[in-house]
Amino acid sequence: MIVDIKNQNCDNRVVNKEADGKVSPELAAKVKGLFDALGPNASSSEREELDRLLLTQAILAMNYSYCPYSDFPVGAALLSKTGQLFLGCNVENASYGGTICAERTAVVKAVSEGFREFDTVAVVCQKNKDAWPCGFCRQFLSEFGADLRIIVEGSSGTVEVMSMSDLLPRMFGPAALG
Ligand code: THU
Repeated sequence: MIVDIKNQNCDNRVVNKEADGKVSPELAAKVKGLFDALGPNASSSEREELDRLLLTQAILAMNYSYCPYSDFPVGAALLSKTGQLFLGCNVENASYGGTICAERTAVVKAVSEGFREFDTVAVVCQKNKDAWPCGFCRQFLSEFGADLRIIVEGSSGTVEVMSMSDLLPRMFGPAALG
């Protein structure tokens, strides 16, 4: 399945009372099953199946984006090293600097539920397919994932993968504090 983010609608001024952005038990089980089956010798197509599922979930998360100021919806799907999935969207604020990016929302949800080690984060922006986490998010993500995989959907529908050390070389991490 090719993930297509062109036709996603995000209405930032209407609260969806029916919304249920929680990861369903069925989806959680599917993600965990795919992840557990990967193993060290996983083929690239097995890995890609999981990556595309994560991108699809990031698109769903993006639908809850609250971005009335930038009108730039972002979604993230964060996979823990034990196979749990956490979703996040950007949440803006009238005091603009209070804005939280989608990736950090997902990390905060995960860490506050007891998960601190992550395998992959999928990031989607409605208005720009080939956009990678901002500097704040690179720093924030690296705290819990020096070896994290970051994936986005490339402009031609491919899954684009980068490592944390590619995005943030010589990162300032917990070890730097001595
Ligand atoms: N944003 C993210 O959610 N993640 C990023 O990595 C870059 C930027 C959000 C913040 C703000 O709500 C909007 O995108 C425009 O900057």
